[in-house]
Amino acid sequence: MNTLNHVAIIMDGNGRWAKKNSLPRSAGHYKGVEVLRNITIYANRLGIKALTVYAFSTENWKRSAEEVNYIMSLPKIFFSSYIKELMDNNVKINIIGDRERIPAETMKVINDAIEETSRNTGLVLSFAFNYGSRDEIVRACKKYAQDYKEGKVEDLDEESFKSYLYTNDLPEVDLLIRTAGELRVSNFLLYQIAYSEFVVTDTLWPDFTNETLDYCIEQYQGRKRSFGGRDETKNN
Ligand code: FPP
Repeated sequence: MNTLNHVAIIMDGNGRWAKKNSLPRSAGHYKGVEVLRNITIYANRLGIKALTVYAFSTENWKRSAEEVNYIMSLPKIFFSSYIKELMDNNVKINIIGDRERIPAETMKVINDAIEETSRNTGLVLSFAFNYGSRDEIVRACKKYAQDYKEGKVEDLDEESFKSYLYTNDLPEVDLLIRTAGELRVSNFLLYQIAYSEFVVTDTLWPDFTNETLDYCIEQYQGRKRSFGGRDETKNN
């Protein structure tokens, strides 16, 4: 069995789901919130330690103002409906990304949830919100340069570089899932997924169920992870 501590998900297909059901795009995002609640509770029950979900990318600002505003209201919908359940299940909330551009009222809702769940010891649910991996890496480099200039650090290596990333406190990403069939990484966790296993499912995020997660984990468990070493079971 491969250990499975950290699952990251690119939750794609909300718009296509809405179109398929003749609904506005917002209905796809709304259903996506409910699915996220289900998957968080289920992943926690499976003993997964960290779940990181791509909720809003630094590129998503290019969408219509109406859609952006709606996505910015999702944390309020999510936490007002589910915070009690998240507490009961010992889930801890975290955010990764550039907080500066997020509207103050959205940030307040997220910060309240982070504070309220801060002593929980179960699964850590990280929202990648206004997150872009290139932006994260550039910021990390700038911060390191500043620390170096101030004499706080010396040489940089792979291990110490990790501490400059938003994911500093999280375990290595073992499994990256992308829904809705696209074969792209879309600027998500580029440094962190160096040795992650990828599973792409055609299921649209709003149709994603506990069984779909089981399927992804089954695929993951069928993989031989060699982390760049030689796989002894291969005949070569
Ligand atoms: C991608 O689908 C999805 C998003 C950009 C938003 C994802 C957000 C959620 C599922 C909810 C997150 C929850 C909180 C609490 C923030 P898309 O719109 O790109 O779908 P399409 O490619 O089919 O158009």
